[in-house]
Amino acid sequence: MSLAPAPGGAERASTGGHIVPRHVAIIMDGNGRWAEQRGLPRVAGHRAGAEAVRRAMQAAVDNGVKVLTLYAFSSENWRRSDEEIADLTGLMRFYLERELGSLQKEGVRLKLIGDHSAFGKDLVERLERAVERTASNDRLTLVVALNYGSRAELVAAAAQLAKRAVAGEIAAEAIDENAIAQELQTRDLPQLDLLIRTSGEVRLSNFLLWQAAYAELLFLDVLWPDFGEAEFEAALSQFALRQRRFGGR
Ligand code: FPP
Repeated sequence: MSLAPAPGGAERASTGGHIVPRHVAIIMDGNGRWAEQRGLPRVAGHRAGAEAVRRAMQAAVDNGVKVLTLYAFSSENWRRSDEEIADLTGLMRFYLERELGSLQKEGVRLKLIGDHSAFGKDLVERLERAVERTASNDRLTLVVALNYGSRAELVAAAAQLAKRAVAGEIAAEAIDENAIAQELQTRDLPQLDLLIRTSGEVRLSNFLLWQAAYAELLFLDVLWPDFGEAEFEAALSQFALRQRRFGGR
């Protein structure tokens, strides 16, 4: 049986000698509460949250993180009101347009996971255009999870492997951790090193369940719109302090 690649290689020393996670993922939570605390509509929280996305991306670039994966819209978010969904998709359209220049300037490649085809035609086209235009950038890969759910991703991987086994392309016995990892939408990304959730909630909410197997988890009390470079760097310092053993000693 072959195991998925050992996660230990997925980090390296920064110029300052700290261990820097290569792949950081964030569950951006707390936009609604941030707005509520200020007596503002929820959309104001999402707008402030989008500014925090910009800061997180810049902090990732500045600190030498290679992959930043953000949970922007879960497959469960469709349960929100039509108005809030329209606000969120409208914001994504607006920021895609506004930020494409800075993605290019900073050398950021955009990658999508989840099923973005469920969004309106205009947003889908803009997303795909941004992915194409940034395809050759290599300083940071910004992975945006849209209409993403980890269980659905695993179900799709299992179904694909079953299909290939039935077609005689692979033996059932050949289905191991690597075979599953290769069917996931993250197949071309380094192992997840650090998973952060803001807003004080302590759960994974169907995000990167397989990929988080050996990741360090960090749950922060800060609401997402208040997350900036300083919080990002503090999270990197926390990561550097943790001793990672991957089940060994
Ligand atoms: C959680 O806050 C956040 C979201 C559901 C969506 C995240 C979206 C953004 C940060 C804005 C747009 C994104 C991009 C990529 C430009 P919540 O509404 O669940 O907060 P609450 O739990 O306090 O109500």
